[in-house]
Amino acid sequence: MKTEGGSAAAKRRAGERAATQVEDGTVVGLGTGSTTAHAIRAIGEAVAGGLEVRGVPTSYQSRALAIDVGIPLTTLEEADGIDLAIDGADQIADGDLIKGGGAAHTREKFVAAAADRFLVVADPSKLVADLDRSVPVETLPDARPVVEDRVRELGGEPGLRAAQRKDGPVVTDNGNLVLDCAFGTIDEPGELARGLASIPGVVEHGLFVDMADVTYVGTEDGTDRRTY
Ligand code: 5RP
Repeated sequence: MKTEGGSAAAKRRAGERAATQVEDGTVVGLGTGSTTAHAIRAIGEAVAGGLEVRGVPTSYQSRALAIDVGIPLTTLEEADGIDLAIDGADQIADGDLIKGGGAAHTREKFVAAAADRFLVVADPSKLVADLDRSVPVETLPDARPVVEDRVRELGGEPGLRAAQRKDGPVVTDNGNLVLDCAFGTIDEPGELARGLASIPGVVEHGLFVDMADVTYVGTEDGTDRRTY
């Protein structure tokens, strides 16, 4: 029988723990990725047991999964605010995040921004002292040359994210490209976030600075909860 590996089990613990925070009668932001998928499935089980919630998905993937597990959906326009958003991360340093491994960070960011509380779920490999992964930058296709130049001026090296099992680039749910921008160790995430946001043609970048309220990191036998 196939057993669940350490990282997979940690993701499940984190996702399921965050799902316990969802209260009856609330609107929940549904993030994207394998860790959040555990939370979405757990919320689906709670809905089957009588919990009344509505979800705001952040991607094609989270929308499809939510439908599959029976979570009623709504939109930001329809919902009177979001009570709680749950989402994963690619790196976490002192509550600041790099997201966008699934190219969904634009929707993930405005859903998290609209939420009263933003819970981040992850396995321990995501915890770092300093952010140093490439930062995904969703870019309007026609703006790619100017965005690449400006990223280099900020000290980064942009790389167009290539699709797998399709020739050419990844195209986001919004019809845009993703530039993965390597900056080395990011000493001042807030400053870099402002710099990236100011580039014409950038739709959204994957630095989530000062947005997380709580992180749940799955451990060997439970979850580590930290507040910010
Ligand atoms: C998608 C994301 C994901 O939340 C992030 O990539 C983490 O994914 P996983 O939980 O599968 O490790 O930002 O854009």
